[in-house]
Amino acid sequence: MGLDFPTPIGLAAGFDKNAEVFEALLKLGFGFVETGTVTPQAQPGNDKPRMFRLIEDNGVINRLGFNNLGLDRYKAKIRRWSETGNIGIVGANVGKNKTSSDSIADYVMGISALSDYASYLVVNVSSPNTPGLRDLQAKDDLKELLAAVMVARNTSSKRPPLLLKIAPDLSPEDKQDIANVALDAAIDGIIVTNTTVERPSTLRSRHNSEAGGLSGGPLFQISTDVLRDMYSLTDGRIPLIGVGGVSNGEQAYLKIKAGASLVQIYSAMIYRGPQIGALIANELAALVKNDGYQNVSEAIGSDHR
Ligand SMILES: Cc1cc2nc3c(=O)[nH]c(=O)nc-3n(C[C@H](O)[C@H](O)[C@H](O)COP(=O)(O)O)c2cc1C
Repeated sequence: MGLDFPTPIGLAAGFDKNAEVFEALLKLGFGFVETGTVTPQAQPGNDKPRMFRLIEDNGVINRLGFNNLGLDRYKAKIRRWSETGNIGIVGANVGKNKTSSDSIADYVMGISALSDYASYLVVNVSSPNTPGLRDLQAKDDLKELLAAVMVARNTSSKRPPLLLKIAPDLSPEDKQDIANVALDAAIDGIIVTNTTVERPSTLRSRHNSEAGGLSGGPLFQISTDVLRDMYSLTDGRIPLIGVGGVSNGEQAYLKIKAGASLVQIYSAMIYRGPQIGALIANELAALVKNDGYQNVSEAIGSDHR
């Protein structure tokens, strides 16, 4: 994507929703931080409780619903960072307001406002907690959305890479369509995946039937399978960010071998603290070296060769 990442282990979207603490997170050792999801207008999200630890399953269910302080405030933070130092890689993940009547206009507003400042941009059509959002992954809607946001990105002066973030809950046909549309639209990457609405029968925690998106341990295999499929369907021609259930270097390495150029985590930080990004990067480096690679990039998609 034309970016130089200090490590391939980043913090996924949803923690620094308002772009307030990303510089501290970078200093803690994350190779990159994705801020957001931000929506054009501030909104409160769903009523509490809206976040649950599934301790026995090493998982999390959340139904936050894009609680955030809105685009103006967020933009001021990213803009100040970009104009004063600009150290590290900071992504901006954009979404739509719950009550918006024009979804595409919401995404275009976010991309237009942030293209001159963020290191990369993400169009998030995969949160399960905004009604109708994931329908934007369907072929014709996605085509229209990506065309519009690419125009918005291309009219900026900085033109940062633009990525699409997808859900794990997709049919084989959905995945084929997304791969084709992504290649046609010439977007720069795909983030695979957001949380799942599936509830595997193996879950043991008492919170296992809360509504929302499931992340952490139970998502690892589900999201890695989608990652593997997307790598095959795009022929390795689009960089993929693998996310879902990674909590150690071995799992990060499995994502990379399945086709990820970069890896993100969130739930593992909830359980193991903010140093987890640096820890996983160190474990990964040892595994990669042990397999005789000079650089982690040589291992991307190696399962497919
Ligand atoms: C509490 C919480 C809030 C999240 N908020 C967002 C969000 O605002 N935007 C987004 O794209 N993903 C969001 N996610 C999804 C994560 O970015 C990630 O895709 C997912 O949790 C899978 O990774 P993990 O298993 O390492 O947590 C959120 C996840 C959690 C647990």
